[in-house]
Amino acid sequence: MSRKTRILILAVFMGLVGSTAAQAQQNLVAYTIVKDGIPQSLTGKPGDPAKGRKLFATPAKGNCLSCHQAPIPEEMFHGKIGPELDEVGARLTAAEMRLRIVNPKVINSDTMMPSYYKIDGLNRVMKSWQGKAILSADEVEDIIAYLQTLK
Ligand code: HEC
Repeated sequence: MSRKTRILILAVFMGLVGSTAAQAQQNLVAYTIVKDGIPQSLTGKPGDPAKGRKLFATPAKGNCLSCHQAPIPEEMFHGKIGPELDEVGARLTAAEMRLRIVNPKVINSDTMMPSYYKIDGLNRVMKSWQGKAILSADEVEDIIAYLQTLK
């Protein structure tokens, strides 16, 4: 291996270390998984269901509607990749929903559903999204508050 190649590899390695440090700076709230849920609100308080409904259907945010049917009649397109969420509030507790939004891979490592509150271990992340969780803690709680109303 030439000296130039070694320097190049070192530079790439340093770059990787740098980006890991940048990720750590975006402080995600620590959470504890209990059974198949996350019992504690990420913000310590309940979210706003009206904001959550909006985030659910916003492509650059939750984009949940692209895979899930929900009672949002003003939107034409509802996806069918995931289960219908029309009555999810009767089926799942807030804790169960929280884990399924924060990191659904804990429940099913093969799931197509994105991890919305996670920055490590994601594949094929667009450059502008690297080191960023898709949703903030507040936004996760707003969506849970909305889903809880679907009964
Ligand atoms: C790319 C498609 C996709 C997107 C986008 C998506 N999901 Fe899912 N979701 C799924 C699939 C598929 C499942 C079924 C579980 C599995 O794959 O293990 C699921 C399961 C769920 C469940 C569990 C439902 C149940 O009855 O057990 C909830 C709750 C949920 N999703 C909420 C959301 C929310 C909220 C969003 C947006 C923030 C979202 N999903 C975005 C594909 C998606």
